[in-house]
Amino acid sequence: MCGPSLGRRRYGWVTVRESPDHPRGHVCGTRAMGGITPLMGRGDEGSSDFFLASIPKKCYSYICRFEEERHVYSGCDVMLARIFASAVLGIDAYIVEVEADIVRGLPSFSTVGLPDGAVKESKERVTAAIKNSGFQFPLKRITINLAPADIRKEGAAFDLPIAVGILAAVGHVSTKRLKGCVVLGELSLDGGLRPVKGVLPVAVHVRDQGLEGIVLPQENAREAAIVDGIHVYPVQTLQEAVDFLNGERPLEPFHVNVAELFDVGSRYEVTFSDVKGQEHVKRALEVAAAGGHNVVLIGPPGTGKTMLARRVPTILPDMTLEEALETTKIHSVAGLLEPERALVATRPFRAPHHTISDAGLIGGGHVPRPGEVSLAHYGVLFLDELPEFKRNVLEVLRQPMEDNKVTISRAAFSLTYPASFLLIGAMNPCPCGYLTDPTSECTCTPLQVQRYMSKISGPLLDRIDIHIEVPPVHYKELSGEPTGESSETIRERINRARRIQLKRFSAREHMFCNAHMEARDIRTYCTIDDKGDDLLRLAITRLGLSARAYDRILKVSRTIADLEGAADILPEHISEAIQYRSLDRNLWM
Ligand SMILES: Nc1ncnc2c1ncn2[C@@H]1O[C@H](COP(=O)(O)OP(=O)(O)O)[C@@H](O)[C@H]1O
Ligand SMILES: [Mg+2]
Repeated sequence: MCGPSLGRRRYGWVTVRESPDHPRGHVCGTRAMGGITPLMGRGDEGSSDFFLASIPKKCYSYICRFEEERHVYSGCDVMLARIFASAVLGIDAYIVEVEADIVRGLPSFSTVGLPDGAVKESKERVTAAIKNSGFQFPLKRITINLAPADIRKEGAAFDLPIAVGILAAVGHVSTKRLKGCVVLGELSLDGGLRPVKGVLPVAVHVRDQGLEGIVLPQENAREAAIVDGIHVYPVQTLQEAVDFLNGERPLEPFHVNVAELFDVGSRYEVTFSDVKGQEHVKRALEVAAAGGHNVVLIGPPGTGKTMLARRVPTILPDMTLEEALETTKIHSVAGLLEPERALVATRPFRAPHHTISDAGLIGGGHVPRPGEVSLAHYGVLFLDELPEFKRNVLEVLRQPMEDNKVTISRAAFSLTYPASFLLIGAMNPCPCGYLTDPTSECTCTPLQVQRYMSKISGPLLDRIDIHIEVPPVHYKELSGEPTGESSETIRERINRARRIQLKRFSAREHMFCNAHMEARDIRTYCTIDDKGDDLLRLAITRLGLSARAYDRILKVSRTIADLEGAADILPEHISEAIQYRSLDRNLWM
């Protein structure tokens, strides 16, 4: 790579670093060569040509050595650079190698390796960003390969690695540092960087792969820095990234205090004592949270169903850091993380509207994205106006409710999103809503009521353990001061009950709470004495409870006993659980 092959053209990339000792335009002799650094197009072309002409021949070898250190093939016909980037499949990341190959020929720019629309468009952004950052865009045949080629790459996060790859291939970026770093970021036309989605899974993968760190947009730094053991280098522009990689701009790795972030992020804005009265509904929700039981709330409009449901995440057991990380990963992939809230440390509450599509609810779509069930992972999925949801939408809920995850299969790939949530449904007792309201007249016919109720029957109802009626609150209670317990007090009891359950199921995989029990487990863990058995028989026969109610009542009784710290299920636990089967009793039909 020495001597004659270093033509005039090659020197077009060489300019002289400005310094008081060596002002532009005064390069000669070996001493001045120490100031040479290969930065393309920073000075105007004319002046760099002038330097080149005036660099003595004996300095050529110096420049060559300089270039060799940077592993650049510049000056030859073939120029190739390899950059690590990353893409996310489901909520797990994998490394993508961005190869930039530049050869002489008619100017062109093509991207191969199953890129999607946004990646294909990236060449327009990359071209503009390189030019607007003051570099000369190589007018040659540029081929970008994204490997492995069999996995579809989506999104704009490949902009920065592609731009850096091109600049590395023509010798403007040292590839030394690139060997240990993943580069991510969307470019704007002026060379600035925009945040990208799914940075947390990438950071986790970078750590698992034993790489040194990530170069990424400033806004994503907090999210990536949550992961211990990697260096996070935030940059704001393409130029900054190039300077950093060339060792010309030292950057301190970005750090966050994860414990503090977790602590600050784990506070809720609402509390259970906001809700006045409704003590028996609160108790039912406490039981639901303690055992992970799905609930449906039935009552006239304005009785506080939404208000109550919104407060259930605040009484669910304290989130662990692992849970927070997994939930954050999903929100990161969906692009829902706000820059100042790098860690989702509160249990999510998702309340999709009843017009949602099945893809919106369980995930998928043309560019696969986690659905509401996954965004509610480790939290609450609230379906208000349950009977208004389309039947096919409610149908697709069955699989995630059973498996605690969603698998989306396409011809080319299949991916999995976790989806372990507590379902809370809310509904009116009839289409007009006032059937059970003692103060208002209901205008529905019995047939209308029956048709309305039948919309939620069947498989979905099978997975809901607790049905509870929410009556209107009396004026006296509404006008008084809040008297109920705060969420923290309730949560302490729930934490205790959950610990008992974790111990009970410690030998079982994927089983953490009573709601997960199958028929066989119910026989093992929910044994009742003769008195309890008599009570249950009476309830089933006299109250007309359906057969499906039997197992549910046993499960819920187990949770009520756990809340009390009782080893055995007693008759009073069973009688409380029987009250939570309003829909089975069909009281208002
Ligand atoms: N028990 C209650 N304590 C305090 N405010 C209540 C209560 N019930 C209802 N409200 C008030 O009524 C509003 C409407 O309640 P909401 O939860 O939307 O009812 P629903 O979902 O049953 O139609 C709430 O925002 C709240 O201000
Ligand atoms: Mg409501």
